[in-house]
Amino acid sequence: ADYSGGAVKAFDFNDHRIWVLEEKGKIVALDAQCTHLNCNVNWKAERGSFVCPCHGGAFDRAGNVVLKPPPLPLRQQKVVVHGGRVILLDEAGGGAS
Ligand code: FES
Repeated sequence: ADYSGGAVKAFDFNDHRIWVLEEKGKIVALDAQCTHLNCNVNWKAERGSFVCPCHGGAFDRAGNVVLKPPPLPLRQQKVVVHGGRVILLDEAGGGAS
């Protein structure tokens, strides 16, 4: 329910900044690392997009590139919703947080 109003929240997970939001009825977790040269993107509510502070690249709420130079979408982190909680899955070690 925390995300139904369009909220976008940041978490630190396995030394990565992860952005969590609801997009088209699904919880999405995006790695903040820009696919250009790895700067962390920031959520800009007034633009409705994630913006990279290094070279101005931008991504939509689903992580798709809307302004280059990033060559690829933001990487999606595996996530499940269980008992009303959002759980990020550790792809490397199988653990969760
Ligand atoms: Fe993000 Fe260059 S590192 S646009």
